[in-house]
Amino acid sequence: MKNFIDIKELSKSELTSLLDDALQNKRSKTTIQNHLNGKNLVLFFEKKSTRTRLSFDIAIKQLGGSTTILNKEDIHLGNDKESVSDTINTFGLYADGLILRVNDHKTIMSASKLSHLPVINALSNLSHPCQCLAGLMTLLEERGSLEKLNIVWMGPITNVANSWIEAFKKELGFSLNIFCPEAWFEKYKKKMQEYDISTDLGDIVHHHINDQILAHADAVMTDTWKSMGEDTKNLDYDLIKEFRVTEKVMNMAKSDSVFMHCLPANRNEEVEASVIDGNNSRVWQEARNRLFVQKEILKVIF
Ligand code: CP
Ligand code: NVA
Repeated sequence: MKNFIDIKELSKSELTSLLDDALQNKRSKTTIQNHLNGKNLVLFFEKKSTRTRLSFDIAIKQLGGSTTILNKEDIHLGNDKESVSDTINTFGLYADGLILRVNDHKTIMSASKLSHLPVINALSNLSHPCQCLAGLMTLLEERGSLEKLNIVWMGPITNVANSWIEAFKKELGFSLNIFCPEAWFEKYKKKMQEYDISTDLGDIVHHHINDQILAHADAVMTDTWKSMGEDTKNLDYDLIKEFRVTEKVMNMAKSDSVFMHCLPANRNEEVEASVIDGNNSRVWQEARNRLFVQKEILKVIF
């Protein structure tokens, strides 16, 4: 594997090995390894980040490498400043790998074509594969297997949700159902069309909460209603309120159903504080698992 851009590019066996290895590494408590000795990776952020920045920086250092972290404000990249291609070529003169968080997924695709360096997607407007891997690892850690798990996604089909859809299509054994208002689903479809991505999701999208599906849920997940850089001015927030993850929603799911969220979260907007801060929340475990899945991505690539 040269790059890590989207879950859809991994084979089922690559995906399961990566998750198994991440879990094994976490359990073995082996912190220091030398896969990246002498290598420097550039982390570039066009959008804000707390967890991704920290977990990649620490993962790389634990693997013996070093990092250079750049924010949008630090470099010349921009419409009337320096092009993506000149920027990516410049990174390639000094670094050994690129970890990119971008506004437009096309920047990551261009970087992967323009550069001889490995490129890792640290979130784009279309996907957040590292986050999905950490979520999958969390469920594997909790339940011992992904087989027969029923996952419910509540609210907008965001970049994180899109990576979950890709993972679902790998047939790892779990079911996925998405509860999302129709108007918000239309917005997702429009965005995907701009990138020529199929939005044929079969019958997994429901425009109201389906009580029977929810009753079998092992995990309930959501994301912020306002993703970074998204144009939300024409979205009707009254429509999405039905999809807030409340205690009532969690009580309708299986009694041991876990709540997951990529973070940052808006308490009492997409999720009730008592849910995200409650006993069935696994959001901190999921955030910590970013470290372990990302170390495995780096080990596979380098
Ligand atoms: N979940 C996640 O990617 O968090 P950050 O935006 O803080 O990196
Ligand atoms: N959907 C969110 C995820 C943040 C980690 C966003 O893009 O802002």
